Amino acid sequence: MKILITGGAGYIGSHTTIEIIQNTDWEVISIDNYSNSSQGTYDRIQNITGKSIKYYNLDLKDLQATEQVFKENTDIQGIIHFAAFKAVGESVENPLMYYDNNINSLNNILKCQAKFDIPNLIFSSSCSVYGNIDQLPVTENSQLAKAESPYAYTKQIGEIMVDDFIKVNPNLKAISLRYFNPVGAHVSGLNGELSTTTPNNLVPFITQTAIGKLDCLTVFGDDYNTKDGTCIRDYIHVSDIANAHVLALQYLLNNPPHQRHEIINLGTGVGVSVLETINAFEKVSGVKLNYTIGERRAGDVAAIYANNEKAKKILNWTSKISLDNMMLSAWKWEQFLAKN
Ligand code: WQD
Repeated sequence: MKILITGGAGYIGSHTTIEIIQNTDWEVISIDNYSNSSQGTYDRIQNITGKSIKYYNLDLKDLQATEQVFKENTDIQGIIHFAAFKAVGESVENPLMYYDNNINSLNNILKCQAKFDIPNLIFSSSCSVYGNIDQLPVTENSQLAKAESPYAYTKQIGEIMVDDFIKVNPNLKAISLRYFNPVGAHVSGLNGELSTTTPNNLVPFITQTAIGKLDCLTVFGDDYNTKDGTCIRDYIHVSDIANAHVLALQYLLNNPPHQRHEIINLGTGVGVSVLETINAFEKVSGVKLNYTIGERRAGDVAAIYANNEKAKKILNWTSKISLDNMMLSAWKWEQFLAKN
């Protein structure tokens, strides 16, 4: 069986490709335009799995080029759509780039899913769809608050596009997976997140400060109404996220699902503060991190973490990797990058 992964050269896409190769007999093909990744990722996938995959370098906003992939691969049974821009701050500064890329790419994927009758779709959504929500942990039925950024809004719109599309295509099915905060790197230390620019996210900022690429980490505020004043997030290892994609595809393939479009949280269910994350990193790395407490960052919510009961119930999925091992894997990857 053939699976098309869009964004297969990216952070979560490459880890999911590795998980599929190592746990199923499915064939993976990838589409990626390297806007936030590099072709070298495919070499790292081959290095880890011993398998090379067929890949296409094209922009999903080009419908004709995208359709050509489906014409050449008539046996695709599932699509995992990762490809999207995902930097919250950048989306505030450049909203149209996010609306153009994230919405039109998804729209073209849905057009191809209908035109080529591809039965199964997994859509990469995000906890940012919840906005500034106060009843925690959040469940999939929680009322979504206003999106705090254009990036988050593209994920809210994306879920609605999938929902409306599936309603009028009764033979097609989809799952939208809401990732909380994906962090960490492959256990081999040979694949991880490649920040093409100065990282926005906490964990790459921690590891780059620890390795000396950046000189100091700023904690964005310690005056929130939380256990230690810093923001709470639900950090989840990227390989746990990847494993959930295999289970979600198997669920779509093996069951007439309860709903033809399921929405599922992917989080550990545990809220962790910024300071707790820093302390875990210092403990496992043995590195004393240079950080200061600074001002709050616009757009940050004080706390968000998942109720993950639905993923346990219908996917039989649980997160397995601890915060310490998330930090250790991220540190090993940063050290690998420094040597190569
Ligand atoms: C985490 C916490 C910061 C950097 C975003 C998206 C989400 C997902 C993950 C795609 C916050 C604090 C950070 C720093 C800090 N992306 N921080 N100093 O904003 O929770 O989520 O990325 O799927 O959809 O919204 O992640 O890692 O940027 O921040 O104190 O230098 O770390 O204030 O509290 P965020 P983050």
